[in-house]
Amino acid sequence: MNDYYRLAESVKYTRNKRRVILEGKDESLTLIGMGRSAFVFKVPSDNKALKVFFPEFKAIAQEEAEIYRMLKGIPQFPELHESGDNYLVIDYIEGLTLFDCLTQGIPIDPEKIQEVDRVLMLAKKRGLNPSDIHLRNILFTSKGEIKMIDVARFRQTKDCLQWRDLKRAFHWFYFKPFCPKKIPAHVLNMIAAVYKKRLIPSPH
Ligand SMILES: Nc1ncnc2c1ncn2[C@@H]1O[C@H](COP(=O)(O)OP(=O)(O)O)[C@@H](O)[C@H]1O
Ligand SMILES: [Mg+2]
Repeated sequence: MNDYYRLAESVKYTRNKRRVILEGKDESLTLIGMGRSAFVFKVPSDNKALKVFFPEFKAIAQEEAEIYRMLKGIPQFPELHESGDNYLVIDYIEGLTLFDCLTQGIPIDPEKIQEVDRVLMLAKKRGLNPSDIHLRNILFTSKGEIKMIDVARFRQTKDCLQWRDLKRAFHWFYFKPFCPKKIPAHVLNMIAAVYKKRLIPSPH
């Protein structure tokens, strides 16, 4: 039994109707994020991130691990160090998500958006179909690099239009001089909720 296995086992949840609540964890772990399917912790002793999936999303751990293996060598994706039944160990990324940049008013240049495009092309060349590309799955480091995480849906066959639509939002609004460069979190969350319900018509 290795250390990451033990650390992943230490993570305990409870749920109320709408949310998963973290109940317990090894004291060495620092919570750094929570998505739809997992809690993510920093393992400070070795600068890695431990992603522990909620029980109903456990099967995703192996799928995401395989995809990280397929992306190996593309520097904008974290390297996979280990995977288990319900967890992944990847490089910890010191940075801010695109969501954080927008809410904190940190400016995003068009070159960064082009770079995301180039990275997604590289993933496509490896036979993948990048999906679920949104503001919380793209990070910017203090050195100005971009990093992309949460690749579990990169093998889905259905086309995902999220990145195309996000790019349009950048070009049609964000890069325009009239658009404020600091956008409150509740406004972004509201736009995301409306988008998810498909209330914003998508011109094909
Ligand atoms: N390797 C990492 N380094 C730093 N932060 C991370 C890392 N992986 C995930 N996070 C943080 O945790 C959040 C949730 O992780 P993610 O992999 O997107 O989970 P989910 O599949 O549940 O959406 C991310 O939005 C990000 O803020
Ligand atoms: Mg995510």
